Amino acid sequence: MPPFGSALVMLLSLASLATSCTEQESNSLLQFIAGLSQSSGLTKSWQNGTDCCSWEGISCSPERTVTDVFLACRGLQGFISPFLGNLTGLLHLNLSFNLLSGDLPLELVSSRSIIVLDVSFNQLSGDLPDIPSSTLARPLKVLNISSNIFTGRFPSTSWEVMKSLTLLNASNNSFIGTIPTIFCVNTPYFAVLELSYNQFSGSIPPGLGNCSLLTSLGAGHNSLSGTLPDELFNITSLKQLSFPNNQIKGSLHGISKLINLVTLDLGWNELQGNIPDSIGELKRLEEIRLDYNQMSGELPSTLGACTNLRSINLMSNGFSGELTRVNFSTLTNLHTLDLVLNNFTGKIPESIYSCSNLVAPRFSGNWFSGQLSEGFANLESLSFLSIGNNSLTNVTRALQILSSCFCPK
Ligand SMILES: *[C@@H]1O[C@H](CO)[C@@H](O)[C@H](O)[C@H]1NC(C)=O
Ligand SMILES: *[C@@H]1O[C@H](CO)[C@@H](O)[C@H](O)[C@H]1NC(C)=O
Ligand SMILES: *[C@@H]1O[C@H](CO)[C@@H](O)[C@H](O)[C@H]1NC(C)=O
Ligand SMILES: *[C@@H]1O[C@H](CO)[C@@H](O)[C@H](O)[C@H]1NC(C)=O
Ligand SMILES: *[C@@H]1O[C@H](CO)[C@@H](O)[C@H](O)[C@H]1NC(C)=O
Ligand SMILES: *[C@@H]1O[C@H](CO)[C@@H](O)[C@H](O)[C@H]1NC(C)=O
Ligand SMILES: *[C@@H]1O[C@H](CO)[C@@H](O)[C@H](O)[C@H]1NC(C)=O
Ligand SMILES: *[C@@H]1O[C@H](CO)[C@@H](O)[C@H](O)[C@H]1NC(C)=O
Ligand SMILES: *[C@@H]1O[C@H](CO)[C@@H](O)[C@H](O)[C@H]1NC(C)=O
Ligand SMILES: *[C@@H]1O[C@H](CO)[C@@H](O)[C@H](O)[C@H]1NC(C)=O
Ligand SMILES: *[C@@H]1O[C@H](CO)[C@@H](O)[C@H](O)[C@H]1NC(C)=O
Ligand SMILES: *[C@@H]1O[C@H](CO)[C@@H](O)[C@H](O)[C@H]1NC(C)=O
Repeated sequence: MPPFGSALVMLLSLASLATSCTEQESNSLLQFIAGLSQSSGLTKSWQNGTDCCSWEGISCSPERTVTDVFLACRGLQGFISPFLGNLTGLLHLNLSFNLLSGDLPLELVSSRSIIVLDVSFNQLSGDLPDIPSSTLARPLKVLNISSNIFTGRFPSTSWEVMKSLTLLNASNNSFIGTIPTIFCVNTPYFAVLELSYNQFSGSIPPGLGNCSLLTSLGAGHNSLSGTLPDELFNITSLKQLSFPNNQIKGSLHGISKLINLVTLDLGWNELQGNIPDSIGELKRLEEIRLDYNQMSGELPSTLGACTNLRSINLMSNGFSGELTRVNFSTLTNLHTLDLVLNNFTGKIPESIYSCSNLVAPRFSGNWFSGQLSEGFANLESLSFLSIGNNSLTNVTRALQILSSCFCPK
């Protein structure tokens, strides 16, 4: 290497060989701890005058810039100081599972450096401030504010600024109002949106249809109404669709476009109509929950094509017709089958007895007739069975069969 080159290399490496974090950084961290009423022993290592990169919970880059503040599960109490926003190289901030209260400083949500912000499982309250849409793009990718006590309307313009956002978990708070319509207009990488356990109302915004990379969408246990918008069925990347316990109406027509769906949970809503024949196109489906709706009609025979199904819950609907239409032999992974409180008729199909992983089939409260089959003895995993309130005959025989099921073989 020519002398000039090696001198340059030396100069460069000297420049990056800072021996400790800057005073401004340690001051920002000390301001944070000063805002806490309970800091559980952090003060032992967090000493002014020492290198803050060596403090408990702090990690730095090779240039001695604070990049990670990991203080989850520390029993921290008190407020989150906005001074943390002065750590200009901070990438990851994890304060989850503490007892922090007060609001979440705007300085952190709108930080120019933070990419992962996790303040879940605290007691943070107040409104989540909205970032003006005129703000320059922010790098935040993961925001977990779940399981706090945030209230008020959900931010709306913030999401225009967070162009890199991929994951947002705001579940288990007390947000009110509608779900913002502008998700994904400017956030092309959006993959996970979790809004369950809040007080959102209004309908599901069709604008979510613009979230073309969304894999998981959950807003169960809110007060959402209206139908599932057609635009939703355009998000073919969806694997989890979960809106239980709302007041969603309409039918499942269109669901078969979601060919990557693994979990469909629409229990405790006001859905009507039947399960469409096209359900058979959902080859990856593992769980389908439609319990406590007002659905009706026969089960389509195509259900047998969803060979990855592990759980089917259709409890308390108006489904009718014979179950024998479905060839259950193909559903070798089936673990849970709940058909309680419907209007099914005919025999319990023999094909069910080849589902050797079935743990808890529930048939009670229907019009099933005929005799229980010896096939039940094939259900090796059976641990619970409910068959009451049907029209099954020959109880003596049923008892004989069942005693052979439940006795050690
Ligand atoms: C840390 O010490 C420096 C001087 O050594 C002082 O200027 C600064 O105010 C101290 N910071 C805190 C938070 O006490
Ligand atoms: C640090 O942050 C506080 C609160 O956000 C702000 O008032 C202060 O000016 C900042 N100080 C520096 C040196 O950046
Ligand atoms: C934050 O820390 C908790 C507790 O260790 C962990 O479960 C969680 O995954 C972390 N958050 C992120 C975003 O990595
Ligand atoms: C918060 O959400 C992120 C993204 O889903 C996740 O990685 C992290 O583990 C969550 N934190 C906790 C404490 O569960
Ligand atoms: C969101 O957070 C809740 C807890 O607050 C957790 O149960 C759930 O798994 C999280 N979901 C995602 C997608 O991160
Ligand atoms: C909601 O948050 C509370 C308090 O953090 C927690 O105890 C509870 O398990 C959470 N519920 C859910 C459904 O995540
Ligand atoms: C998707 O975004 C475009 C561009 O912003 C907008 O015109 C369109 O209405 C959005 N689609 C939906 C379904 O809202
Ligand atoms: C769904 O996507 C197709 C093709 O991208 C588009 O033509 C159609 O308008 C979209 N439908 C809705 C309801 O957004
Ligand atoms: C079941 O069928 C009966 C008539 O056969 C009807 O009165 C009842 O409403 C139906 N139940 C449900 C839940 O649809
Ligand atoms: C049901 O499926 C099994 C396994 O794929 C197959 O062997 C059987 O012939 C099918 N029965 C009917 C009636 O289609
Ligand atoms: C059977 O039906 C009766 C009358 O509708 C009801 O009171 C009872 O709880 C039902 N039993 C079961 C096991 O579903
Ligand atoms: C009931 O089952 C027993 C065998 O367990 C059989 O002998 C008897 O004929 C059956 N009764 C009726 C009415 O089918």
